[in-house]
Amino acid sequence: MSNSGESELLHTFKGIPFTTRSSPELLKSLDTFDAREDDVLLVSYPKSGTHWLAGVIAKLYNSQVTITSPIEFGDISQLEKLNKLSSKRIIPTHLDYNMLPLNFKNKKCKMIYISRNPKDTAVSMFHYYRDNPNLPTVDTWTAFFDLFLKGNVVCGSWFDHFLSWEEHEDEKNILFLFYEDMKKDLPKVVKEITLFLSLNVSDNEIQDICKKSSFSEMKNDSEKENSDPSHTVCALTSNRKLIFRKGAVGDWKNYFTPKQNIRFQEMFNEKMKLSK
Ligand code: A3P
Repeated sequence: MSNSGESELLHTFKGIPFTTRSSPELLKSLDTFDAREDDVLLVSYPKSGTHWLAGVIAKLYNSQVTITSPIEFGDISQLEKLNKLSSKRIIPTHLDYNMLPLNFKNKKCKMIYISRNPKDTAVSMFHYYRDNPNLPTVDTWTAFFDLFLKGNVVCGSWFDHFLSWEEHEDEKNILFLFYEDMKKDLPKVVKEITLFLSLNVSDNEIQDICKKSSFSEMKNDSEKENSDPSHTVCALTSNRKLIFRKGAVGDWKNYFTPKQNIRFQEMFNEKMKLSK
């Protein structure tokens, strides 16, 4: 990675790299953020399918809901705006469990954690870094691969993030989803989401929602949407091509060298040895 611009684009808070779009004041204030019992959190490590999940969930509600920008994004005034929002809030976040405002935990707000094969996540993030002027310059896949394994990327280590949430997967207010399951059988996952959120959605409606949530439909829709990044789940770009890139499972095979695959696997086995 070239160092030029890195210091202006990233800063570290509690050991985790954040973009400077997440102000330190806002991050400090998260501890005292006031949650509402009916808040729903959409939690993910970046590039795990957050927009896809948000797109599905937005279509499940008949009542007025607002998908906000990520809670950790912006300056302190962002939290004020969230406080004033009168509709039900669906709040995306890339925070790891330990940094999540305590109030969400105490009030047992519903939280959906979406995860994805970290190898595909790394490749997706590589493209996101490479083409996004709001992130440090990254010159090659090899350089990015090293940064990813070290957790020296925005939102820190994939392993630490996943493990911090997995520890809580048995809590009734947390639903764990996998990108790959959504690719395999979206209606099944959507049904699971409706049950978790206690939403009454018929099987026909689910089928319809799934059609509208395909990669191509969502990509087309995004081209018509408001391109103001503060109005999107991903608050770091207004370039929708960066978000709806390929939408595939297994793209990592086009990038990982056999050596990188072995290194990744060793790290995975070591870090995830206590994981289910
Ligand atoms: P790729 O870069 O591998 O294509 P996030 O929303 O968390 O930033 O994740 C972005 C990833 O989700 C991108 O992966 C994107 O293409 C993929 N994605 C977005 N919408 C999708 C959809 N409807 N179906 C499948 N994948 C989708």
